[in-house]
Amino acid sequence: MIMGTTLSYNASAAYRALKESRSEEVEQRLLAARDEVLADVTLLRSQQPIPAEKEPLDAGFIDLPRRLLDDDARSTSASLLRQIDTVSATLRDALDRVVVLGIGGSYMGARALFEALCHPYHNELNRDARDGVPRISFAGNNLDNDALHGLLELLQRGGSDPSDVRHRWGLVVISKSGGTLETAVAFRIVQRALEKFYGPQSEEVRQSVVPITGDEGKLHDLAAAKAYDHVFPIPDNVGGRFSVFTPVGLLPAALLGLDVRQLLRGASDMTEQFIKAPPGENPVLDYTAACHLLETRHGRSIRVLSTWGSRLEALGFWYDQLLSESLGKDERGATPITVVNTRDLHSRGQQHQEGCLDKLITNVIVESPSYDPIRLPTSLDDQDQLNRLAGKSYPEFLAAAVEGTNQAYADANRPTADIVLPRLDEYSLGQLLQMLMLATVLEGRLIGTNPYGQPGVEAYKNNMATILEQH
Ligand code: PA5
Repeated sequence: MIMGTTLSYNASAAYRALKESRSEEVEQRLLAARDEVLADVTLLRSQQPIPAEKEPLDAGFIDLPRRLLDDDARSTSASLLRQIDTVSATLRDALDRVVVLGIGGSYMGARALFEALCHPYHNELNRDARDGVPRISFAGNNLDNDALHGLLELLQRGGSDPSDVRHRWGLVVISKSGGTLETAVAFRIVQRALEKFYGPQSEEVRQSVVPITGDEGKLHDLAAAKAYDHVFPIPDNVGGRFSVFTPVGLLPAALLGLDVRQLLRGASDMTEQFIKAPPGENPVLDYTAACHLLETRHGRSIRVLSTWGSRLEALGFWYDQLLSESLGKDERGATPITVVNTRDLHSRGQQHQEGCLDKLITNVIVESPSYDPIRLPTSLDDQDQLNRLAGKSYPEFLAAAVEGTNQAYADANRPTADIVLPRLDEYSLGQLLQMLMLATVLEGRLIGTNPYGQPGVEAYKNNMATILEQH
């Protein structure tokens, strides 16, 4: 296989399996939908009133990576990226653990970056092995008593001496609206623990709590009242699940020592390719074309994101949310499912091979591992009879599994497509996240569903609030 340097997408196996070919008619409609997506950005930036039928319009994520990079290149110290550099460096030096509170779009992107790009056992490493990068714990994304109890216990057992950096911890609380119950109640409780650790009203509490929020709402007001040293904004025109390239994803990424500029370069290059490249050379157009055609002509309404490696599971969950909240409207919208292979070949594999004919399987394949390939050693007694494979490496086992699985699906006329990343790094992840966000919005415009907003999520929130008030 020739190794690429950038993300690539190939759906030829999917078309072959269904005896289909790329459709010029779908591609023409997609080009019109692309014009609409880009016109949305122009409209947003023009400051003109947004027509009612376009509301809500959260298209600010599309050109945001380029704007952040340009601003960074222009300004000496005031750019958002420089502020993120400064604050993250200060917190890294001062803290050994950071609790990140947030849910949905205010959580899943940071988690995807953490799992894909950090050491697989990051939190278990000692501070030296982590190069002084803090441990990270996610919370405020559920109403699970025991999970929160466990976190509080962990924080308490972490030590009680605020002068010892190995005991010190802090808090990043993320909520665009500032009113999400899961995050807000966890914040009050975890902040109480932080005040107990550093002392109530202490300067250290102000320094080690970082709210990331919209320009109005309860968290915004609370942050002003408490006068925390660092508060980051979430732009009004970027919706939660599209916010990974705002401080929502960038601050946790920088805290973890990741190269946020490379993330943004990957994302910005993907937007450029989306704007300029023709069908056949444009991962966003090509992915959307295959998904749409297979769903509308062949009933493939279940989209399986088949990730080949456990470091991509959180990325898959991020995509599950992105697609579900964006297009699961008006009694329509494909259903996303994430699998991690080869693990899930032993759970969902049977169904994908022989179950209902309703799935398109999109593999996410990483060409090169981040660490040295591990090879199977020769055994003197060969009791396990594996010597026939001795000398082979994990990447070779995985490549055989990918090829064998694709072949098995092809033999059963089951459509598969491949997204290939040269390696798991910031640039590739930036490309992939932006590709999937653009594709989701593009498909929304194609089928006439507003991809922004998530009105359906309000129903449970309202019921829960009423029930809590009543009892
Ligand atoms: O995509 C979205 O907008 C949602 O998933 C939100 O991110 C989620 O509901 C959390 O909202 P908030 O950041 O306001 O707490």
